[in-house]
Amino acid sequence: MSETDEIVPRAGVIGWPVAHSRSPRLHGFWLKQYGLAGRYDKLPVPPEDLGVFLEALPKEPGFRGINVTLPHKVAVLPYMAEIDSVARRIGAVNTIVIRPDGSLFGSNTDAFGFIESLKADAPAGWSAAQGPAVVLGAGGAARAIVVALLDAGAPVLRIVNRSLEKAEALAAEFGDRLQPVAWDKRAEALSGAGLLVNTTSLGMSGQPPLEIALDDLPKAALVNDIVYSPLETDLLARARARGNPVVDGLGMLLHQGRPGFEAWFGVAPQVTSDLRAAVLAD
Ligand code: ATR
Repeated sequence: MSETDEIVPRAGVIGWPVAHSRSPRLHGFWLKQYGLAGRYDKLPVPPEDLGVFLEALPKEPGFRGINVTLPHKVAVLPYMAEIDSVARRIGAVNTIVIRPDGSLFGSNTDAFGFIESLKADAPAGWSAAQGPAVVLGAGGAARAIVVALLDAGAPVLRIVNRSLEKAEALAAEFGDRLQPVAWDKRAEALSGAGLLVNTTSLGMSGQPPLEIALDDLPKAALVNDIVYSPLETDLLARARARGNPVVDGLGMLLHQGRPGFEAWFGVAPQVTSDLRAAVLAD
């Protein structure tokens, strides 16, 4: 056997820090499930080394591409030979494919992951097009969710943010389906909504709680929290207790990994309950 025969396809996730990333567990599960020879590693890259790392990446034996996490999602943009239109609109890249000529193609699969997670886990018949969506937060995660909901046909997106000017800036950028709402009006903003999504870090283990009265939220409204630690956030528990359908945040993480895995390893992977359990186990 020649040396080239032994080179296995490789991918990984760059971040700083990257120790807490669940992506190796996700892709590792799929590699094993589909019986593929391949590797997916944590790749700690400090910000000052990002350019050198990306320039060297195509020369690394076996590397097919990488995921990108904090703080690099925006900083990688100038190194991409091409980015897809969703990544351009979100303004961030989370998945890179090394093309045969060594150039880097950047995409963003967070919007896909969000919508696919709702499709998989929402009650039958629920659709984003049915009513206004309330989005709590206006940061990086909110941008991906705004793009996803615009593309899914949400008629109105009420963007509720502590710093109102960030919600206003999103509305100026993404158009008049977005309505900025002040943080102290968040309870009233739920009136008539078909979807409530928390994109802030509030309610995450170690973070302050998310305080929001749910009385005005229609019982048929779907409630989603992108926080998945804890899996059942206080928001989801309260929504479930009053009869709302809920979708937890783990699905977005799992579904966003699908396009990258397929591009790097050649198999379109499935999100299953076994995968959920494996990624949650620590
Ligand atoms: P990410 O990229 O994960 O979205 P981010 O860009 O830092 O992270 O955004 C965090 C979001 O959580 C923001 O909408 C932030 O509100 P501000 O824009 O006003 O900072 C929101 N957030 C964080 N802590 C908050 C708090 N204590 N109360 C209300 N909103 C909070």
